[in-house]
Amino acid sequence: MTDRERKMLAVVEKRLEKELNNPESGHDMFHAERVRKIAVIIAQREKVKCDMYLLELAALLHDVGDWKFFKGSKKDRGEKIKSILAPYSIEENRFKLLLAIIDSISFKGAGVRVAMETVEGRIVQDADRLDALGAIGIARCFGYSGSIGRALYNPNVKPIIHASFSAYKKNKGTAVNHFYEKLLLLKDRMNTKTGRAMAVKRHVFMEEYLKRFYKEWEGKDGTE
Ligand code: ADP
Ligand code: NI
Repeated sequence: MTDRERKMLAVVEKRLEKELNNPESGHDMFHAERVRKIAVIIAQREKVKCDMYLLELAALLHDVGDWKFFKGSKKDRGEKIKSILAPYSIEENRFKLLLAIIDSISFKGAGVRVAMETVEGRIVQDADRLDALGAIGIARCFGYSGSIGRALYNPNVKPIIHASFSAYKKNKGTAVNHFYEKLLLLKDRMNTKTGRAMAVKRHVFMEEYLKRFYKEWEGKDGTE
């Protein structure tokens, strides 16, 4: 990475603090920073040839214009990202790759798969998914659920395997259902070997957590 690129990443970080101001949705600057850290670790461990500038930029910017809180079109989203990068120009080709990563990254329902074309995209997607897992993932799930008025759990409301993005978006389930509708599915959808190994550890922790949750629901504790 060049000095200029490093400087630009620092400028983007500063500007993003204003953009990513939806902490209740699990999308704040700290999420972007964690995804960046995880993406760098995966890239180092995978030992693949990787454009680190594109990777870190995509990790930082991946949630700008997320469908959950941005109502504009795909074109508006591109403009927004361009304005965050300005006045530092970015080569047209790299900008296209960046937008392609950002457009394909988010989870759109259990039955919906979107191909990620670049190695940088595959790594950033793994990093984003990892931040939805484990202790942080559990906290984000309950935090987001609370912000949209969802119950923690309701044994009468069953999880749904969503066949389309529109069905996933309209979903009115509980926080615990989200584990079955997304979180527990992620370990088998990781793009990289390193990402998968990291996901398995976080997955095991979530299973343990759910076991305890159901015990406590019945008034028991973890030792019974
Ligand atoms: P990401 O940043 O990983 O793309 P999302 O944009 O899908 O994640 O959502 C942000 C956070 O909120 C994630 O931790 C995700 O698992 C959680 N989340 C998303 N949809 C729901 C939902 N319907 N119920 C509970 N938590 C959710
Ligand atoms: Ni994200």
